[in-house]
Amino acid sequence: MSGPNTSYDPVEVAALEPEAIEQAVTAALAAVAAAASLEELKSLRGAHQGDKSPLALANREIGALPPSAKAEAGKRVGQARGRVASAFTARQGELEVERDNRILVEEALDVTVPVTRRRSGARHPISLVTQRVEDIFVAMGWEIAEGPEVEAEWLNFDALNLGQDHPARQMQDTFFVEPEGSGLVLRTHTSPVQIRTMLREDPPIYVLCPGKVFRTDDLDATHTPVFHQFEGLVVDEGITMAHLKGSLDAFVSRLFGEGIVTRLRPSYFPFTEPSAEIDCQCWICGGTNPSCRTCGGTGWIEVGGCGMVNRRVLAAAGITDEKYTGFAFGLGIERSLMLRHGVGDMHDIVEGDVRFSAQFGMEI
Ligand code: DAH
Repeated sequence: MSGPNTSYDPVEVAALEPEAIEQAVTAALAAVAAAASLEELKSLRGAHQGDKSPLALANREIGALPPSAKAEAGKRVGQARGRVASAFTARQGELEVERDNRILVEEALDVTVPVTRRRSGARHPISLVTQRVEDIFVAMGWEIAEGPEVEAEWLNFDALNLGQDHPARQMQDTFFVEPEGSGLVLRTHTSPVQIRTMLREDPPIYVLCPGKVFRTDDLDATHTPVFHQFEGLVVDEGITMAHLKGSLDAFVSRLFGEGIVTRLRPSYFPFTEPSAEIDCQCWICGGTNPSCRTCGGTGWIEVGGCGMVNRRVLAAAGITDEKYTGFAFGLGIERSLMLRHGVGDMHDIVEGDVRFSAQFGMEI
């Protein structure tokens, strides 16, 4: 900035001359009008409005003028700066409108354009049911236990009180693993997981054991050589049949609907004493439809077997303290699925066609 002038020397304050100011304004207005984008406009601000712009310099020169000249020069510079400022504001407004319009066009989405459909997979209904059953028992505080599909014969039969000559051992058509006398079978039920659990853990035991089992049946509309069961086992102090019934009722009401209960019918299994067949109240008709296709009008559907764990089984698995008693149950998944969803042919369940699975939902 120049030092204070004692006399007004128009040469020293050339920046304040009307022509110079008009020129600065004209240059600024031309540049602003030519700015084609907001970025460009922004980059012009320094040159025309910044500290070193001609008008800012002129403004600074005012201080050096004699008091008599200040007012007029001040007015002139002020007006000039005002014109430039409004030109910037106006152009900014225009460019913003342009930008918004352009974005609206460029980024427009045609919601009517047909999408490319990508078919999602579907979990197999056996997996869905298994997971739902697991969730129900886990919510009651039970643990999930697993065992191998190729199982020791001793665990699959002997420890479960199915001796060499026990008729049930022949009843269960077993896949024996070669060579003969290997002592291995493909497990015919999930019950050996009971023994494995008791050998591994001390009571209290509350486990659910879901899994694949194998029998030498041919695949037809109602049979399959590979199917799924889940086994329940509880061993604790003071466990009674009432706990078994209560657990089964809690389970079926959660799986099939509030108010659905089970009924126990006396039966025989070597690994339980007493033993019972589990009937579940018909979840389709609730026993109200004499011609119901699901329950045959009886109101009940057989879903599995259960009972109090045979003392001999507890002993084989190392639990000899008489204060412990337990219950066990075993249920088949395929059968429930066929009944529940009216699946008429086992082939549909085993073939794994996604068009079948998709009907049960896309839950992941
Ligand atoms: N293991 C039997 C089967 O595969 C089902 C079963 C019945 C399991 C009674 C049990 C039970 O735990 O107590 O046919």
